[in-house]
Amino acid sequence: MGDRVNKLALHGGRPVREAQLPARGHIGSEELAAVSAYMDKVVATGTLGAYQGEEEEAYCAAFAEYLGGGYADAVSSGSAAIYVALLALELEAFTEVIIGPFTDPGGIMPIPLQSMIPMIADSAPGSFNTGPEQIEELISPRTSAIIVPHIAGEPADIGGIMEVAGRHGIPVIEDCAQAHGARYRGQQVGSFGDIAAFSTMSGKHHSSGGQGGIVFTRDERLYQSARRMADRGKPHFLPEGATNMQATLNFNQTDLAAAVGLAQLRKLPEMVERRRAIAGQLIEGTADLAMIALRQTAPEVASSYWFLPAAFYPQQAACDKETFCKSLRAEGLPVTDDYRSGMPHRQTWYTERRVFGSSGYPWASPLYEGDPNREFPCPNAQAMLKSHFTIPLHENWRTREIDDVIAIFEKVAAAYRTG
Ligand SMILES: Cc1ncc(COP(=O)(O)O)c(C=O)c1O
Repeated sequence: MGDRVNKLALHGGRPVREAQLPARGHIGSEELAAVSAYMDKVVATGTLGAYQGEEEEAYCAAFAEYLGGGYADAVSSGSAAIYVALLALELEAFTEVIIGPFTDPGGIMPIPLQSMIPMIADSAPGSFNTGPEQIEELISPRTSAIIVPHIAGEPADIGGIMEVAGRHGIPVIEDCAQAHGARYRGQQVGSFGDIAAFSTMSGKHHSSGGQGGIVFTRDERLYQSARRMADRGKPHFLPEGATNMQATLNFNQTDLAAAVGLAQLRKLPEMVERRRAIAGQLIEGTADLAMIALRQTAPEVASSYWFLPAAFYPQQAACDKETFCKSLRAEGLPVTDDYRSGMPHRQTWYTERRVFGSSGYPWASPLYEGDPNREFPCPNAQAMLKSHFTIPLHENWRTREIDDVIAIFEKVAAAYRTG
């Protein structure tokens, strides 16, 4: 170890890891072959398909099979998938949709864009995910749906949430953007709710070529509805003579993207297993460090580790969390001080109600019967932001990276040890 255990890089010492952590490298010869095969076909036939060609059909069928059976429609992004899932449920304007506090802005913005009111449920104590109790507190006669993001790849208590939702007769959308391949009691997330949305953007577990999303459901009627809503309301599956039945946009995914998605999907199970193994080694390798705890999940869930949250215990350390994180970064581990983008309901678009010009709609509409100024302090979520930082990881970390990351934690923890 030599000078590794000595001076912190933050104070001019030599960093544990001088080389940047490796890029994911998750696109390779398989995706290249898929794109070539698709383009060869296009050139040979002289015909460029738009969507719903054999590539998208194959991708959606394989994805549905991966989720244990059902129906999938590939769309243009994860945000679009949420938007389409909400539309597929045919909810009424000025109703309320309950959603967990942590998500991407694209996971919540579709709610007000469809003239419904987002109701922010706190996270469960000690979790980034919302829970059954926090959701039930917000249920009112105006509640029309619940969106459950599974944050960081860690499944929410979807069993408990489905029980609450079922008791009140409210449909559930699972937001699995960050949780491809995660399991709750052995079952894939996305297969519990009425309908689910996935993002297949470049950084997600598997990607359909940079941007993309998938809507999944086990309900054929909802699938058919989703197909219409993702395609300008075209009368797919409706009787002869029906016309475009709903105002929406074109959220279709291209066959080219689907060809990449299918090649990626084949790698997904192994990518998820690798992430689990790496997280397991990091958790074990840092278990003796009193000032941090890398997140251990409940026994009934298997995270797919989009990232790895860690708790910081200031009473065990001679520094604050921010300094600890700065020090980790200086040693070569690019951690984030708290949940990456914070909570979207703290952002300007929400606080200034910027959805439909300066009208303040949907909150300000006389048709909304709830309290338009209701606040959502979310103390559990705030406590998570304060106490946790997040570690990026991916399936292509090898022994060298895992050892370096553990060494970084050991060095920084030793430097800030109390007593
Ligand atoms: C929880 C969650 N929901 C929705 C989205 C939106 O997905 P996209 O970026 O593909 O639109 C993301 C993206 O990171 C997300 O993390």
